[in-house]
Amino acid sequence: MIFSQPNIGELEKKYVLDALERKMLSGDREYTHRVYKEFERRFGIKNMLLTVSGTAALEMAGLLIDLKEGDEVIAPSFTFSSTINSFLLRGAKVKFCDIRKDTYNIDENLIEQLITDRTKAIYCVDYAGVPCDIDRINEIADRHGLFVIEDAAQAVGSTYKGKYCGTLTEFGCYSFHETKNYVMGEGGAIILNEEKYLERAEIIREKGTNRANLLRGIVDKYTWHDIGSSYLPSDVLAAILLAQTERFDELTRIRMEIYDFYQEAFREAEEKGWLRRPVVPGYATHNAHMYNILMPDDNTRTWLSDELKKDSIPAYICYVPLHSSPMGRRLGYKAEDCPVTEEYGNRLLRLPLSSCLTMQEAEMTVQKIYELLKNR
Ligand SMILES: Cc1ncc(COP(=O)(O)O)c(C=O)c1O
Repeated sequence: MIFSQPNIGELEKKYVLDALERKMLSGDREYTHRVYKEFERRFGIKNMLLTVSGTAALEMAGLLIDLKEGDEVIAPSFTFSSTINSFLLRGAKVKFCDIRKDTYNIDENLIEQLITDRTKAIYCVDYAGVPCDIDRINEIADRHGLFVIEDAAQAVGSTYKGKYCGTLTEFGCYSFHETKNYVMGEGGAIILNEEKYLERAEIIREKGTNRANLLRGIVDKYTWHDIGSSYLPSDVLAAILLAQTERFDELTRIRMEIYDFYQEAFREAEEKGWLRRPVVPGYATHNAHMYNILMPDDNTRTWLSDELKKDSIPAYICYVPLHSSPMGRRLGYKAEDCPVTEEYGNRLLRLPLSSCLTMQEAEMTVQKIYELLKNR
């Protein structure tokens, strides 16, 4: 059984071949613009720029808010390294914030006590495609004059109070890495929810030049305007993403069916106190990006994943908390600084889920877990 794999069909192949035949190899060509149209039509998203990765989108956000040495950023430790690297690279410091016990997202009740006169931004992460309580976070940020960057790498298609993740703060960042719901191999996007950032974002993304205006025919030569990097992806990759976006309903339905199956199947195990199922707050819808079970302790989690492996059922830990990782420790953090992250990070187990997983495989996974837990 394969834990997660991208669902690549005939449409992806057709578009990629077309992009190759028409020699649309560099970025910002027809397929990139068709992706933008599709995101606007489906999600009402405007001012989106495709990037070479979710990591690059986060780095662009750090550049756009002019983070510099001495600035502080509040962010969860229960995330991928890219969230934090994106602002450490700008010389800013991280102030790790603990997470909520229900969603495993940043605990908005703990943010305010971390704010100092050096704080410049709050980075929130929609873990497993379940949105943070963004209204509360935006309200805190407004009161203190801070930026909010939404790392919605895992949350494409999820909603918060009826609005799509990625559109809820000044900057939303998506990932289209092959492990995500909708893929382009390596890729991502930044969404500029305030139009005033668009022009500079285009420049930063194109090595600090105004090449985007040359492509639009607004200028007849382009030149260096700002710092920047090479953040735009090839149109060949955008061709894959266009197909995935056009297949959005189909790909989402497959994931949802598996997620709902797990959710129903583990009801009894939860009632018996063997595990806890994922929690999606009433303010949100999720995109079935991951299915996690919370085990009673670290030992049970490790034992269960080892036993499943013996039957070729892959189940993995989620994130190793960053504050207690080797790098986190180098930054001066100790495990006890974010106790909920530390504990829950050690108890969560991620089950196989992708748009290539079959229902038989999901059934086999559930059956084996019940067998193991009953006999423990
Ligand atoms: C929360 C989060 N942020 C950022 C990233 C980085 O995205 P990418 O792999 O596209 O650079 C990931 C990817 O796994 C992620 O899960």
